[in-house]
Amino acid sequence: MHRKIEALLKDKIGLDVKTIGEASIKNAVKHCLNASGCSDLNAYYQALISSDVELKRLVEAVVIPETWFFRDDVPFNVLTSNVNNNWLDSEESDRKLKVLSMPCSTGEEPYTIAMALDKIGFPEKRVEIDAIDISQQSLDKAKKGVYRPNSFRSDDLSFRDDYFTKVSEGYRLKSNIRRRVNFQQGNLLRDDLSQFDLHYDVIFCRNLLIYFDSQDQQTAVRKLYNMLADDGVLFVGHAEANNNVNQLFRSLRIRGSFSFVKKNEYELSELNGNYDEKVSKFSTKHRELPTISHAGVSLNPVNGNKKTVGVHSADNKPFSDYHIGIGSKVDGELDEQVLISKAHRLADEGRLDEAEATCQQLIINFSSADAFYLLGVVYDATNRSGMAESMFRKAIYLMPNHIEALIHLALHVEINGSVEEALSLRRRAERANQ
Ligand SMILES: C[S@@+](CC[C@H](N)C(=O)[O-])C[C@H]1O[C@@H](n2cnc3c(N)ncnc32)[C@H](O)[C@@H]1O
Repeated sequence: MHRKIEALLKDKIGLDVKTIGEASIKNAVKHCLNASGCSDLNAYYQALISSDVELKRLVEAVVIPETWFFRDDVPFNVLTSNVNNNWLDSEESDRKLKVLSMPCSTGEEPYTIAMALDKIGFPEKRVEIDAIDISQQSLDKAKKGVYRPNSFRSDDLSFRDDYFTKVSEGYRLKSNIRRRVNFQQGNLLRDDLSQFDLHYDVIFCRNLLIYFDSQDQQTAVRKLYNMLADDGVLFVGHAEANNNVNQLFRSLRIRGSFSFVKKNEYELSELNGNYDEKVSKFSTKHRELPTISHAGVSLNPVNGNKKTVGVHSADNKPFSDYHIGIGSKVDGELDEQVLISKAHRLADEGRLDEAEATCQQLIINFSSADAFYLLGVVYDATNRSGMAESMFRKAIYLMPNHIEALIHLALHVEINGSVEEALSLRRRAERANQ
């Protein structure tokens, strides 16, 4: 009978018993069976399949509401940095930033978003934060907005002084933040969420996919993809940036942020198999490139024109600023292949400044297509889209059949609206690949 109950939970909310262990489910069942007044497990199972009340009680008993304010702070820094750069002084100054926190649990995550945006002066009237969770008990707590010390686990607690009032039960969140979040009940896996198609600029879906099996993860990731605007950003939990997410999304490669943008149609197409394997050899291997400052990331890293403004950890140095003379040596070696391997290795390790310098030395000494291509990829990884595009063009000029450069350039020009040129570049890449 326990197996049947586990199957029911999997069917209704996607909970994969392996993720929390049979013992936890058995405990929850025991507790709920007692509360139900049923005489035995058989009667309880019948009650579960015929009564919403019993099913809800069991769901409340098995979900894990663990959360706290500013949990893993990097995603919130990435969010505010982008809003600062791309939304605050935007020409479309009445456009609303639409954010979804799902699952929101007891509210710490969506309220953190509200506080972080308030801190940078983003006007309340320009933000809409929806917060959804399957647990009504959690939502009730969230709406109350009173929190115990367990919700304050981050190193920096200065936000507590700014936004909370001490009360006898704990800390009450001020109403000017509480009112910014709309809470509602919902089930990511089983509810029809199509009303939100392309609706959200930002989605936080952290620490839920880990409870699903791979198939349900795929279903959930597809729903997130549908709800996210084409230039939006998805944040997942640190254990969730896996193949199922990578199927539909591309990492922003900002260490510790687990942030993703939607893959475009081309990347999702069959040739994308080639794209992943051939073009992004080093960037996909290290999905979170360590040296990129989250102060300057783009919501859309390929399209610098659209949303990228900001400071990069790797400076925007023009070629001439590096002063690497012809004949200078790297590690005493002036072999092209050695330098190319070195550039790859540095990029793999996230040492993008050094990878960049090595690429430039390669260009000065060998002027090879691969060097220009590699430098383009480094520029892309540090959000210098225009410079990246020009490097890919140089690579193709030197080697008209450079598949990787063709594919990268196609992505750039497509995002900039040159659909025809993108198509022609892709055809060239396909021909070169044959
Ligand atoms: C560990 S909390 C994550 C909260 C927050 N996102 C965070 O990372 O701090 C997981 C939440 O997922 C919710 N949940 C479980 N299954 C769900 C489903 N199918 N749809 C929506 N929420 C679900 C639970 O109620 C619980 O509040």
